[in-house]
Amino acid sequence: MSTVTLKSAREHRVTVPSLQRRKQRGEPITMLTAYDFTFARIFDTAGIDVLLVGDSLGNVVQGQDTTLPVTLDEAIYHTRLVARGASRSLVVADLPFGTFQISPEDALRSAVRCIKEGGAHAVKLEGGRNMSATIERIVCAEIPVMGHVGLTPQAVHRMGGHRVQGRTDDSAERVIQDAHAVQEAGAFAVVLEGMPAELARAITRELVIPTIGIGAGVHCDGQVLVMHDMLGLSDWTPSFVKQYAGLGAAATQAARRFAEEVGERKFPDPEHSYR
Ligand code: KIV
Repeated sequence: MSTVTLKSAREHRVTVPSLQRRKQRGEPITMLTAYDFTFARIFDTAGIDVLLVGDSLGNVVQGQDTTLPVTLDEAIYHTRLVARGASRSLVVADLPFGTFQISPEDALRSAVRCIKEGGAHAVKLEGGRNMSATIERIVCAEIPVMGHVGLTPQAVHRMGGHRVQGRTDDSAERVIQDAHAVQEAGAFAVVLEGMPAELARAITRELVIPTIGIGAGVHCDGQVLVMHDMLGLSDWTPSFVKQYAGLGAAATQAARRFAEEVGERKFPDPEHSYR
């Protein structure tokens, strides 16, 4: 992308219709998770299209084993921080486990809070055919919904772990039906997680809404990564993750140098002291 194109791309707020036009034009969509103001501003400045306040915050921010304990209040709090740092990116709040499954009305209440209190532009929720009525209800209230099918981390106990989906014909057929159900219910985009690249390619061809892949190969309309994985801040990352920086190692080294210099009374030196 030339400097001029990048600059003009940065000036316009990404919207639900603009993402749909990107699919029609074959222009890849970028999405990263973000959980606070500082990184939201960095990714927004870098031209990332969508900032997802993922319930992965349970893992990477809170240090929990699964995403299941994340509460709606926590999701809203982090969404508010991210929304404050995003001037161009579309902000999507992930509905945590238990905040949308009980009934479509309950789901709508949760989605409304993410928009009103969190400042999100849209919400994401996990599930396919089982979530059709819920997606329809939220969309009817003029709140854009992003779907999420395939490997859905909130179903970790049903799946028996974070298992790639769609490897058998039956399983692939279920994922395809889920993706279609999400589109028919009115979702504006869908995350395809943890599935063979060829399955994601077939779904991407069949759907008119953009697909955003994670561990789903290169043929999706866009790609998403968890920011801690992408920046090298996680202890362990799945094999599909590419680390674009080594911030974890850099931060450890910086903290060690700080501790050494304090221990040796080298910091603060005269340059870093008030006179
Ligand atoms: O919570 C999250 O970070 C997500 C992405 C992995 C898509 O749902």
